Amino acid sequence: MKLEKNSSEISKSKTILSGIQPSGKLHLGNYFGAMKQHLEMQEKGDAFYFMANYHTLTSISDGNRLRENTLDVALDYLALGLDPEKCTFFIQSDVPQVTELSWILGTICPVSLMEKGVAFKDKVANGLAPNIGLFTYPILQAADILIYNSDLVPVGADQKQNVEICRDLAGKFNNIYGDEYLKIPEPYIVESVAVVPGTDGRKMSKSYGNTIQIFDEGKTLKKKVMSIKTDSTPLEEPKDPEICNVYALIKLFASPEKQEEVAEKYRAGGYGYGHAKKELLGLIDNYFAEARERRKKLAEDSDYVFDVLKTGAEKARERAEEVMEPIREATGLIRHFKMV
Ligand code: ADP
Ligand code: TRP
Repeated sequence: MKLEKNSSEISKSKTILSGIQPSGKLHLGNYFGAMKQHLEMQEKGDAFYFMANYHTLTSISDGNRLRENTLDVALDYLALGLDPEKCTFFIQSDVPQVTELSWILGTICPVSLMEKGVAFKDKVANGLAPNIGLFTYPILQAADILIYNSDLVPVGADQKQNVEICRDLAGKFNNIYGDEYLKIPEPYIVESVAVVPGTDGRKMSKSYGNTIQIFDEGKTLKKKVMSIKTDSTPLEEPKDPEICNVYALIKLFASPEKQEEVAEKYRAGGYGYGHAKKELLGLIDNYFAEARERRKKLAEDSDYVFDVLKTGAEKARERAEEVMEPIREATGLIRHFKMV
């Protein structure tokens, strides 16, 4: 399988698709591992991005919370630079065809394919209830991808298996029904993006409670940065930046020159982790300053945000219907009413 790494190769005619679950406040891991690529790729092709709220029902069963999270993620994306003129931005549940396709794919999906899924086992090990929605999560994700005839799926390395399952299901469907009804997509994984460490040094993740949120600011941000775990090398001694969680985060924000300057200070000694944390705090503050201002303005303009999501959904539904019509025909599903 080809893993495209150089986004300059992507042509404008390619459909790029990705989703993010509105399962909590977005953090630096989500930004550097997924959103940053999404924002860059809106310039490169015909991008479709959505809030995967059906998926989040596998972990949140509080309607108000899910609604709030969904709009929060929409605000985050728009504040960070997602341009609705350049891409199609919408909420998954605004495209009912996706659950229709998901059911159809489920009828051709061997149970054994789901049993191989590592994400299900990981999530259950982390305390999520082993419900059927969680077990068949990759089928709904496959429908998300296939319903728009997607070419490229930019995702973090942890999602690679789900894209492979999607490819398997599309191939199987085409085989059974005897035509190329579903386009086989390619994952687009930026392998160079390292796993972003959380404040405790493990992978930053909502489920570990070790996140620094993208829109944390002031005292909250400071407290989290100051709490990042480091070793106990005394201030005056030289330190190895490459094994330090603070430096791993600094690298994400700083220019190459700045990175080198800080690394030198680590190696020289007389530079404590407290100094590095202050440096990091300044870098984060600066990096997200504009986005924070934009987010505050957007939060007061919900009409604009709803308009963007509605316009996006209309376009997404049209595309979804183009893919679904021949599938209903091929599978023999009778429908008397138009879906768009
Ligand atoms: P969480 O672990 O907080 O629940 P998700 O699994 O919802 O995060 O992550 C959404 C996407 O963000 C993932 O597919 C992955 O690409 C990216 N991501 C999340 N955490 C990290 C991290 N610590 N480092 C790099 N990428 C991450
Ligand atoms: N499973 C993805 C995640 O947790 C979210 C997602 C849902 C997705 N549907 C998708 C990603 C389709 C890419 C394509 O990060």
